[in-house]
Amino acid sequence: KRLVILISGRGSNMEAILRAAADPAYPGQVVAVIANRPDAKGLETAKAAGIATAALDHKAYPSREAFDAALAEAIDAHAPDLVILAGFMRILSEGFVRHYEGRLINIHPSLLPAFPGLHTHQRALEEGCRVHGCTVHFVTPALDHGPAIAQAVVPVLEGDDEHSLAARVLVQEHQVYPAAVAWFCQGRLRLEQGRVLLADNP
Ligand code: GRF
Repeated sequence: KRLVILISGRGSNMEAILRAAADPAYPGQVVAVIANRPDAKGLETAKAAGIATAALDHKAYPSREAFDAALAEAIDAHAPDLVILAGFMRILSEGFVRHYEGRLINIHPSLLPAFPGLHTHQRALEEGCRVHGCTVHFVTPALDHGPAIAQAVVPVLEGDDEHSLAARVLVQEHQVYPAAVAWFCQGRLRLEQGRVLLADNP
């Protein structure tokens, strides 16, 4: 299956997927990495791995819709089966999300539906949560509210600050995201009438 990854920054989740996809047995192939920031560090990593890259600076477009239209065009030029948001820090318009319905996924650094939005680690600490984690979900027009595909849980430990907690969650993100992408590529995972269907390992 053909995968396009969208990033805005560091791109460590992208790297985890590239690493997994480097195994010939992996059922997906990353055909392009696209960023909304020309200075996204992950673009260099992708280039070094021989992946096609593009940067579309959202500030160069007059509106969100105009940017999203250009982004969709750049994505569709690669004919992806799945579009993967990996630290892509732009809210996408409803039209864009609908265009990719059932083939657009995101990873969010909290156990959704807790803590949609930003500063999730800080907020989990402030709430006194004993566990925290990450969620891979299908993207729907409501921000960070799409149906969950996979979650990983980590403990919140005595003395944690947002950095130590984020680092513990990130280790799990790098495990769970390539796995969820593989399920999709194997045809085991799909969105049907707003629900996640995940078939057993054949
Ligand atoms: C990750 O924590 C991801 O869950 C969140 O933003 C961070 C991106 O990190 N959406 P990276 O760019 O994948 O390293």
